[in-house]
Amino acid sequence: MHAMLNIAIRAARNAGKVVTQAYAQLDKVETTTKGANDYVTNVDKAAEKSIIDTIHNAFPDHSIIAEESGLNQGKDDEYQWVVDPLDGTTNFIKGIPHFSISIALRIRGKTEHAVVYDPLRNELFAASRGKGAQLNGYRLRVSKAKDLDGTIIGTGFPFKRKHYMESYLAMFGSIFAECGDVRRAGSAALDLAYVAAGRLDGFFELNLKPWDIAAGELIAREAGAIVTDFSGNTEYYQSGNIVCANPKVLKAMLANIRPHLNDALKS
Ligand code: IPD
Ligand code: CA
Ligand code: CA
Ligand code: CA
Repeated sequence: MHAMLNIAIRAARNAGKVVTQAYAQLDKVETTTKGANDYVTNVDKAAEKSIIDTIHNAFPDHSIIAEESGLNQGKDDEYQWVVDPLDGTTNFIKGIPHFSISIALRIRGKTEHAVVYDPLRNELFAASRGKGAQLNGYRLRVSKAKDLDGTIIGTGFPFKRKHYMESYLAMFGSIFAECGDVRRAGSAALDLAYVAAGRLDGFFELNLKPWDIAAGELIAREAGAIVTDFSGNTEYYQSGNIVCANPKVLKAMLANIRPHLNDALKS
């Protein structure tokens, strides 16, 4: 295994310990509000610090962009780590046992290594570009569904940006009418990893941040998924509007999304 993926895994496992220990004593967790329906805890920050320390111990010059502390510019900015120390903070705060740690390494703008770790289930999803995706060492493959019929589609609701609600609900309604059922589990990184594992047949969400998707999208692609924005192009990393599924399910999802795009959602 590549040395840099190894460091990502070590960082994720260390942060996993921080998060699971705190989860066992949830009444001690301190929560503050960043914006409407948008929370951060002392645990997000402690996990992030532990990840940054692990990466910088191994690669002192690499840049790191992390949700809670922003950009740590290193001397060598061709190497950029993209870190979400706790994806699913709302689940964590409410005691819902579904959240993850997401770490990706982008080299000259291309994601090369990725880890999404679910510390409660000890499920570690990992991928390196061109080398496939694994869950705890076992090779992953996306679902074989040929259309939306009977599929389980993951999504996230635009709870921070309710002005997208109308377009979103129209897309949702159109997909829901054709698929088997929908899940809103609360961790975008795990949603993408679950598409890689074939547990979800597809996933879509709007306005995500780079740290929500950087690792999960490589893992999904290495398992055979196609990832696009809402117009079927490749701007999802910039816009945060993302659709992910095997090629046939993706086509069916886009057909249900396209009629409901407003200008803000075209990329
Ligand atoms: C959130 C989760 C959630 C998604 C939100 C994200 P956070 O990340 O990924 O599933 O719907 O848009 O912000 O804030 O818990 O790291
Ligand atoms: Ca957050
Ligand atoms: Ca997140
Ligand atoms: Ca987070």
